Amino acid sequence: MKIATVVGARPQFVKASVVSKAIEEYNSSCSGSPIEEILINTGQHYDSNMSAVFFDEMRIPKPGYSLGIGGGLQGAMTGRMIEKLENIMLQLKPDVVLVYGDTNSTLAGALAAVKLHIPVAHVEAGLRSFNMNMPEEINRILTDRISQWLFCPTATAVENLKREGFIMSHHSGNGNNNPRLTLIGDVMYDAALYYRTMAVASPTVDSLIRQLGRKHFYLATVHRAENTDDSDALGDIFRALNTIARKTPVILPLHPRTKKLINCQRINIQNITLIDPVGYFDMIMLLENCLGVFTDSGGLQKEAYFFLKPCITLRQETEWIELVNNGCNILAGADYESIINAERNMGEMAVKHDEAFFGDGHAGAKIVRYLAME
Ligand code: UD1
Repeated sequence: MKIATVVGARPQFVKASVVSKAIEEYNSSCSGSPIEEILINTGQHYDSNMSAVFFDEMRIPKPGYSLGIGGGLQGAMTGRMIEKLENIMLQLKPDVVLVYGDTNSTLAGALAAVKLHIPVAHVEAGLRSFNMNMPEEINRILTDRISQWLFCPTATAVENLKREGFIMSHHSGNGNNNPRLTLIGDVMYDAALYYRTMAVASPTVDSLIRQLGRKHFYLATVHRAENTDDSDALGDIFRALNTIARKTPVILPLHPRTKKLINCQRINIQNITLIDPVGYFDMIMLLENCLGVFTDSGGLQKEAYFFLKPCITLRQETEWIELVNNGCNILAGADYESIINAERNMGEMAVKHDEAFFGDGHAGAKIVRYLAME
């Protein structure tokens, strides 16, 4: 079997590393014909600290194709990706195209494949924020609709898809119009379990943690278009973090999108420790050592939970609603007062890993087994 995997943005490198390893393990343990995986990197994230560092740390196989398509407007970026991906898929003729999450690279990979009648497998299917202003929500809904395998990370994701008319089934042989919908667990949980034992901080992050003190700082990230592209929202978030950082240091690895907009809008940064984007290992070390997390990232909300840290989400809604219901995540939006109030309540948020929301840490192996059954 030949699988073409399409990645492009930072979180996809983490997710794909898990499945690539599971493919290697499958190949070394199975007597049948091996699975061949060809990695295609769209280049959506191109700075080395947003891309190359992940390939190095996680020993992700070198991409077979690197398209170098980063930046630009949503439509232009997605369109250029589809064009190049279509040509590659025509040459490669894969049996399956594997896509992850909700980025423009996800949608481009799925669209290019489905038009060539190549089955699409979507890892992280079924997530919904119910906010159609987010490019990610559009990407997810469309990708799910045209995928043949829907690998859901949570029970909530399965319920979302059932509400949209999908039927639970993990059996093959359903025919093209009836996708397989399976609760598989979260590959990011697999990644956290696997890499936390080998993660070491870079000298910069290590000295920062020592200087500020373990459990004496918060970790924050801000990059969602809905926050960065709204000057009031961005202003409020940074005003709140400035206030919080007066008492408790805040480390914020700064996404290039946010950096540009902070400069453009001349947003005042006081007290916050801004650093360049960090690799996955540094992120693990920051998570291990922080007091709690402020973020508008989807992935970091879960990682906070994996590392038993309370999380304040800088959005009005989340795809990981089980964490809010469980009391370990507060939705504060991008409002100054709400963020400040949420921080006051952080001390009382007891994060216990008492429910298997995200599977058993073997989601990657299950995905490979399902695909190999074809
Ligand atoms: C994208 C995804 C989002 C995901 C996030 C992870 C979409 C619509 N959004 O958002 O779902 O959570 O990745 O980080 O696909 N840029 C650089 N250097 C880079 C990468 C980007 O300077 O290495 C610049 C781009 O030129 C652009 C901006 O940052 O101006 C935003 O990048 P983009 O890829 O559009 O989206 P993200 O905000 O990273």
